[in-house]
Amino acid sequence: MNALAATNRYFKQAVRILGIDSKVEKSLLIPYREIKVECTIPKDDGTLVSYVGFRVQHDNARGPMKGGIRYHPEVEPDEVNALAQLMTWKTAVANIPYGGAKGGIGCNPRELSITEQERLTRVFTQKIHDLIGPHLDVPAPDMGTNAQTMAWILDEYSKFHGHTPAVVTGKPIDLGGSLGRDAATGRGVVFGTQALLADHGKTIAGQKYVIQGFGNVGSWTAKILHEQGGIVKAISDVSGAVKNDAGLDIPALVQHVSIHGGVKGFAGGDSLDAASILAEDCDVLIPAALGGVLTRETAKDVKAKFVIEAANHPTDPDADEILAQKGVVILPDIYANSGGVTVSYFEWVQNIQGFMWDEEKVNNELQKYMIRAYANIKDLCKNQNCNLRMGAFSLGVGRVARATMLRGWEA
Ligand SMILES: NC(=O)c1ccc[n+]([C@@H]2O[C@H](COP(=O)([O-])OP(=O)(O)OC[C@H]3O[C@@H](n4cnc5c(N)ncnc54)[C@H](O)[C@@H]3O)[C@@H](O)[C@H]2O)c1
Repeated sequence: MNALAATNRYFKQAVRILGIDSKVEKSLLIPYREIKVECTIPKDDGTLVSYVGFRVQHDNARGPMKGGIRYHPEVEPDEVNALAQLMTWKTAVANIPYGGAKGGIGCNPRELSITEQERLTRVFTQKIHDLIGPHLDVPAPDMGTNAQTMAWILDEYSKFHGHTPAVVTGKPIDLGGSLGRDAATGRGVVFGTQALLADHGKTIAGQKYVIQGFGNVGSWTAKILHEQGGIVKAISDVSGAVKNDAGLDIPALVQHVSIHGGVKGFAGGDSLDAASILAEDCDVLIPAALGGVLTRETAKDVKAKFVIEAANHPTDPDADEILAQKGVVILPDIYANSGGVTVSYFEWVQNIQGFMWDEEKVNNELQKYMIRAYANIKDLCKNQNCNLRMGAFSLGVGRVARATMLRGWEA
């Protein structure tokens, strides 16, 4: 089941749990605005090339819309739509005053030079500048884009509207980015894991962790777990996988990856078939790479007691059922990886205040938001007798539905 079908299914279950009226349900599901623009740029050799850029603005009942911009050859409207909707529920679960959006350009950034990427980003911004803004829609980096991309959007947008750092988040620190943003998703994953384990009478220290993916999210998650006494026993990435039952030396692994580009060949552990990482014996399994990795087939072999969805949509609904039957507790993506968008919100707040927070304040505030959201989800689970995923979806959908009804509709 793809991300769109799964998101719709969970949304519909939440609507049933909450007893939402069918007119409100329809209004929540249909995107507020879908933008599609042609972006033509001269390549470095002088030839012209055209790409299609998308921005789906799903819902703004709770505040300006928020979501990433990805550069990927397979960017297509249906998936962007599902991801925009997911952002609406995610920002509501985190209780930050935003709606949801997502966008992208159907291109392969690896086939574009830096100057071509810059031209493409500027043309895309020129086409959508009237439809984004600090109080309208605030883009952020996603697959294939980064802080530099946000810097170009900020610069191009500011040509039309004056200096406006709050138009994007995930910017370089020198242009108003937030301290702590780089680590925020991984740090949020650890705060969420801490809350879940505490609920089961356990702490981060002493548990055995397996992590799929060692990019931004996976590596920060591993570093912080390791600092807190967690035993990170296996890690995979696109290059392969490594394992050490006594716990991998994460700082040494980070060093290895910075030199060799991947975990493969790390001397502090044994190599492992990357495809078998999800079946490794551990307490906590953290998929932090791709969507759709826990399927009907792979879920059967999971030995972990807890699955923390650091990646977006790593678990198929079929796998959800199999894992539930095995007694595995899943911390759902719309909560588990919301640390990134929460610190993006702090970045926007700092830009609007014109006042930069120190990193300690950023991390302390993030902890408060993650702990509070977990407690809110648990309350809903108790009231509605549902699992954490449905608790999180119901919390998010319920908040957006209430905001929508309070605002009302034009006659
Ligand atoms: N970065 C954020 O702030 C953020 C926020 C919310 C959700 N997410 C989600 O978290 C996931 C990871 O994002 P990221 O920013 O760390 O990406 P990234 O590109 O920095 O890292 C991805 C990692 O996955 C690995 N990988 C790719 N294919 C793999 C495979 N077949 N098997 C094992 N590992 C593989 C890569 O080698 C890399 O280590 C994505 O699903 C993303 O949507 C990220």
